[in-house]
Amino acid sequence: MFVTGTGTGIGKTYVAAQLIRHLRRLGATVRAFKPVVTGYSAETVAQTDCAALLDALAEPHSAERIDVISPWRFRAALGPIGAAALEGRGIDFEAIAAFTGAVFRASPAQYTIVEGLGGVMVPFDEEHTLLDLLSAAAVPAIVVTGTYLGALSHSLTALEVLFARGIPIATVIVNETDAASVSLDQTAFALAPFATRVGSRLVCLRRNPTPCELASLCEAVLLDLRAER
Ligand SMILES: Nc1ncnc2c1ncn2[C@@H]1O[C@H](COP(=O)(O)OP(=O)(O)OP(=O)(O)O)[C@@H](O)[C@H]1O
Ligand SMILES: [Mg+2]
Repeated sequence: MFVTGTGTGIGKTYVAAQLIRHLRRLGATVRAFKPVVTGYSAETVAQTDCAALLDALAEPHSAERIDVISPWRFRAALGPIGAAALEGRGIDFEAIAAFTGAVFRASPAQYTIVEGLGGVMVPFDEEHTLLDLLSAAAVPAIVVTGTYLGALSHSLTALEVLFARGIPIATVIVNETDAASVSLDQTAFALAPFATRVGSRLVCLRRNPTPCELASLCEAVLLDLRAER
């Protein structure tokens, strides 16, 4: 599964890490990747998404493992184009797409989880966005969105463009935004009919959920993934 979302800081890593932990508790084998990471530095590895995914996998933050799960790393906490430019590097989208497709096709694990970066249309170059990476992955997307004021339009835009590109959306996760003025219920109520229309199901995730709520969320996602197969 490919975990994407409406934007940065929306909860993609949080959701991916919970899914990894849940699957491991069930005894399933899991691999996780975040092919492109920005805001990365070797000195602050523990604060990066790579570390969060490795923690969930119960694996060390070793340079070897980070090379495997996040081959494209950039220092600046910017989108890929800006972060690469600051280092005088280019972005080889075809290589990123080939890597992402391969981790799904060649995985020895029962479950492979890839986290995108930013939102569904973060650009990699003048031509390609995350949508193209999702197409290359050819697996269902899990779309994480929030409850901040404005999240409805951002969510519908993301769902519409994914649907238009023929990318299957297994689950839409409405993740409660910290201190948002709009409630989780109101957001879910407004979004649910649209999620249904794009052939997906909507589930809610409260801020600081209980272990039981997290388990239900993960089970819902797994059910949706099975339905997509
Ligand atoms: N439901 C939640 N309850 C409590 N904390 C949460 C929840 N969802 C997300 N967070 C926290 O919010 C912060 C941002 O979430 P996260 O890092 O998962 O976002 P992201 O979409 O992966 O961001 P990025 O675009 O940088 O990859 C993190 O500190 C995360 O632990
Ligand atoms: Mg993240």
